[in-house]
Amino acid sequence: MISNSGANGGGPQRIIGIIIQFHLFFISLLLFGPTLLFLDTEALAVTCGESNKSIRLQTPHPDLTPAERLHELAAVLAHHGINEWDVYGDFHKSTADDDHSFLRNFEAEVANEFGKDDAVFMPSGVMAQSIALLIHYQDQQQRGTTKKKCFACHPTSHLLLHEEKGYKELCGFETIPIHSSNHDNIGVGLGAPPMLLEHLQNTDLDDVSTLILELPHRELGGKLTPWEDVLQIQRHVRNKGAAFHCDGARIFEATAGYQKSLAELAEPFDSFYISFNKGLGGMSGAMLMGTTEFCDQARVWLRRFGGNLFTLLPYVASAWVGYQRHWKLLEPTIAVGDDNNDRDVLLSFSEKREKLVRIVQRLTSTPEGQATDFAMIACFEPNIPQVSMVHLYLRPTVDECQGCRDAVQAHGGVCLFHRIRPLDENSTGFQQGYRSMVEISIGQANGRISDDVWMEAWNEFAHHAMKLLSFTSSANENLE
Ligand SMILES: Cc1ncc(COP(=O)(O)O)c(C=O)c1O
Repeated sequence: MISNSGANGGGPQRIIGIIIQFHLFFISLLLFGPTLLFLDTEALAVTCGESNKSIRLQTPHPDLTPAERLHELAAVLAHHGINEWDVYGDFHKSTADDDHSFLRNFEAEVANEFGKDDAVFMPSGVMAQSIALLIHYQDQQQRGTTKKKCFACHPTSHLLLHEEKGYKELCGFETIPIHSSNHDNIGVGLGAPPMLLEHLQNTDLDDVSTLILELPHRELGGKLTPWEDVLQIQRHVRNKGAAFHCDGARIFEATAGYQKSLAELAEPFDSFYISFNKGLGGMSGAMLMGTTEFCDQARVWLRRFGGNLFTLLPYVASAWVGYQRHWKLLEPTIAVGDDNNDRDVLLSFSEKREKLVRIVQRLTSTPEGQATDFAMIACFEPNIPQVSMVHLYLRPTVDECQGCRDAVQAHGGVCLFHRIRPLDENSTGFQQGYRSMVEISIGQANGRISDDVWMEAWNEFAHHAMKLLSFTSSANENLE
């Protein structure tokens, strides 16, 4: 049991005052406007707001306003009788019958599904993975190993690309990117492979405390390390005395690629991080999982990081809704016996992947197997999506793509994307003539937009792009 000095420091009156404020906030949300229980999420999914009625192909989850989302949450809490706030992570509570905690019960439910002893809810994945690294290193120190404060990962790991070197500046870690060859940039960009066993064989892991494997690799358009490699990497890492950690930010998506359960996917790893704000569509939040001892330590570190917020309830509730809805395919806003005929059919991660595979295939090749015009101006990475996300590399620049997108939107009301990245001049994609990249993830909202709408809009985009780049149709058709 972990003592919680912070909880005592504020004094009971202050705590009660804050709790009342939170309650008033939620009650006011409940009273305000029509309940979201009866809103048509599909309609919300395809609008850009009151003034802009376009269908948005790059928006995986229903596009709710903050008020709508919080309103929905308030309704779910009321509906399920979730009446108590967690306080500082409810560290002192258990899942025993007489000591209920919504947070701790949810942690236990997720841990059970992943076949791990315990799970700890955290506000962010950045925090969760820093904590995982620190625990593994501390454990090795206590066992008297010679491991250094050093971890290894794929060159496209979120820790290397998107976390402002937090692993070094905050936690004092060094890193070894696992390259697919001796060339520095070969592990990133178009055509780069996921982490494979052979990449590790040239790397000295003697000092390495933890090896992080991301499943699927987000920056590679969702490529997966082949499962046989995952198992062999685990054996290799064990032999080297290092810990094996999974960055499973999109692990729910990976179940469709591997055709394995969450417990099967988690089995090889000593620790596992999952996100609630990717495929599950929650507001924010992560869980870190492992053995009981690991999670006890994780709670200590969470306190040190200030991550066990006074209450996490809005995030926990939102994560729980996402988990029920998008993983278990149970609609948490409907009581048993309600008529749910007019509800959205919830899509599984396999169905989302299948939709993406269909769209990619139809856009890039004709029924006769010939390359399409679209394939002249764009390519998908990977060319057959392994999960329900993919990267689309485009020959026009970001500005040019935005121009083509606006023309498509003005004509048919379909917004193809709202996020696009320019390619670095030194990247492999740039060298192959591509100038920009769009990430596509299929969720409940864009997954319900018909394939034909996707086809028409992207083919119209290709038509504009080809004119712009002075490309001639492969079928020699008059594009006018
Ligand atoms: C692969 C991967 N790992 C970790 C993270 C960090 O998660 P968070 O944004 O919750 O800190 C992200 C976020 O996008 C991610 O994509």
